[in-house]
Amino acid sequence: MEIDAQQQQRKRIIVALDVSSENDALRLLGELDPRLCRVKIGKELFTACGPRLVTKVQQRGFEVFLDLKFHDIPNTVARAVEVAACELGAWMINVHASGGRAMLEASSRALRDSAGRQPLLVGVTVLTSLDDAALRELGHCHSASEQVLRLARMCEAAGLRGVVCSPAEVTMLRRELPRGFVLVTPGIRRPSEAQGDQKRVMGPAEALAAGADYLVVGRPITQASSPGAALDEYLAAIHGNSRDSD
Ligand code: C5P
Repeated sequence: MEIDAQQQQRKRIIVALDVSSENDALRLLGELDPRLCRVKIGKELFTACGPRLVTKVQQRGFEVFLDLKFHDIPNTVARAVEVAACELGAWMINVHASGGRAMLEASSRALRDSAGRQPLLVGVTVLTSLDDAALRELGHCHSASEQVLRLARMCEAAGLRGVVCSPAEVTMLRRELPRGFVLVTPGIRRPSEAQGDQKRVMGPAEALAAGADYLVVGRPITQASSPGAALDEYLAAIHGNSRDSD
C-alpha cells in the first residue's frame, strides 16, 4: 500500500496490540487502517507469536513499533537491535536507557553500520511504574523526573532518536532536548475513558500540544466495541492540532 509522506507524518497514533494470540491480533488489525495508525507489538504478543507475526502484521501494511525494551550487555543489545532492524524491518525499536552509555552507543552504532532499514531507535527512561520512593529503594538519589531528564540526555548524546516518556514529562523534555528529538508517550486517555492502571494520563490533543510526537494508545482502542470507530474518534480529537501539519 502506497502511503504518501504527508500521511506518514500525520500517523501519530500507535495502537498497542496487547493481546496474546495471533487470531486476536489479526482480528484487531482487520478493524484498523494502516494509513491512519501504526501498531506496537510488545513482549506479550512477541513471546506468544514471535517474528512471524511481525511479518504478517507488516504484510497487512502496518508499520511496527517493536516494544521489546532491550537491556543487556552492549554487544548483545547491539546485535538484537540489528536483527530487529535488518531481519524484522521494525519501524521503531527501543532499549532501556538504564543499560548505560556504552550499551546505548553500541545500539545506535549497530544501526548506523547496518545495511538494512533504519528504524527509529528510542530509549526507555524511567518506567512509569516507578515513583521516587521506588527509585530511592533502587539506590537512585534523584527524583523520577530528574532521572528521566538525565537518561534522555544520555540517549540523545549516544545517538538515539528519542525516548518513551510519560505525558507528564513531555513539556520538560521538549524544552530541554533538541528539536527533532522524538517523544513517544503512552498514558493517553480522553476524559470519558477509564484510566485503568495508568496513574497520570493526558488527552491526545493535549499530549501533542505539549510536544509529543507519537501517542501509544492501547485499551481505549483495542477494547472498544468498534476499534476502528474508536481510532476515528482519537483522530478527530487530534485533528487540527498544529503539529499535525509539521
Ligand atoms: O491500554 P493502555 O493505553 O494503557 O496501553 C498503553 C501501552 O503502553 C501498553 O502497551 C503499555 O505496556 C505501554 N507503556 C505504558 N507505560 C510505559 C511504557 C509503555 O503504558 N511507561
